Amino acid sequence: MKPVRLEVNGRPVAADIEPRQHLADFVREEMLLTGTHLGCEHGVCGACTVLIDGAPARSCIAFPVALDGASITTIEGLADDPLMARLREAFTTEHGLQCGFCTPGMLIMARDIVLRRPGADSETIRHELAGNLCRCTGYVGIVRAVQQVAAERIGQAAVITRGTTVPPPSYASPLALPVAPSPVAKVPEPAAAPLATPQEAIVSAEPLLNPVKLAEHFRVPAEPAAVWAFFQQPDKVIACLPGARLVAPSDGRSLEAEMAVKLGPMQAAFRGTALLAADADARAGTIRGQGVDARSASRVRAQLVYRLITAEEGRATDVHVDVAYELKGPLAQMSRGIIARDLAGRLTRSFADNLAAALAGGEPAQEVRPLDAGSLVWAMLKGWVSRLFGRG
Ligand code: FES
Ligand code: FES
Repeated sequence: MKPVRLEVNGRPVAADIEPRQHLADFVREEMLLTGTHLGCEHGVCGACTVLIDGAPARSCIAFPVALDGASITTIEGLADDPLMARLREAFTTEHGLQCGFCTPGMLIMARDIVLRRPGADSETIRHELAGNLCRCTGYVGIVRAVQQVAAERIGQAAVITRGTTVPPPSYASPLALPVAPSPVAKVPEPAAAPLATPQEAIVSAEPLLNPVKLAEHFRVPAEPAAVWAFFQQPDKVIACLPGARLVAPSDGRSLEAEMAVKLGPMQAAFRGTALLAADADARAGTIRGQGVDARSASRVRAQLVYRLITAEEGRATDVHVDVAYELKGPLAQMSRGIIARDLAGRLTRSFADNLAAALAGGEPAQEVRPLDAGSLVWAMLKGWVSRLFGRG
């Protein structure tokens, strides 16, 4: 038995749980929340879908002992959710259920789809629902119901659900910039696009709850206007970042990128999406994104705020960067303390050197790919040892 703390449908729960007991059995048998159904118990049918920290997940292959501190929402926890009420109504009128066995999981998945994909067409909905099997309906009524509710949300910003409360997306930065008042707070909300882009649908708008915060700054020997223009070209900026690469062309509002890291025996390749917001008047911007390392199942959410400040009477630019991030999963142990700060400092210096070289029209000053974090770690270790023995 292992002591575990969870929040289930908004209620704190502390229990000693067998490591082999899966979440579906726990909520059904210990909490009597039998709205979560069990079909295959192999992660295939989707009948057991619940929300874990706001994202749909199969509770038959999730284990409470690995979820300490997580927030779980079952179908019962969404009983008073207005969007779920609307979906229930649409499922009823469109004949989206017969025996109802698949329906709780189907509804939880449907709610996530309409939140993430306002205006989704039937093909998109079928693709998104591919992991939820129904042995009765033939899916036609289910897809019609989801499409109907998704259509009603056209014009609304896409969000990823977090429990029963869906906050409006905010592009304002929670981070304090080095010089107040923060110009990034003036960055307008992106109301221009009536339909959310797929990237906006992916990136959570929720503020980071318990972020690690880092602040770095560096000087580039180039005019602020040139540095600003460079910063508006995501492909060029990514090319200066060791280990990073774009996985698709950026539209200027968002980007999809991968960042490879090797830390001794651990290898990670965080792949994810980021949204970009910029305030040209203040020469400041925000990058907000999230990514997953498929190998370790570690997840990162991050927000970066940058600001350019004129230096040396316009001949140089000071770049101030504030980063806040949350890393969850097996690699979380690497996210705090001196390792993270030292790594961030070294990455910043590599980035600054590459940026200066690129602005001068040259090749990156350092090899940018793949990120040899192993050498960074060795350099860190050597630095520590040198400092310990007074030779640093
Ligand atoms: S019971 Fe969990 S996916 Fe089928
Ligand atoms: S309604 Fe019976 S399994 Fe879907």
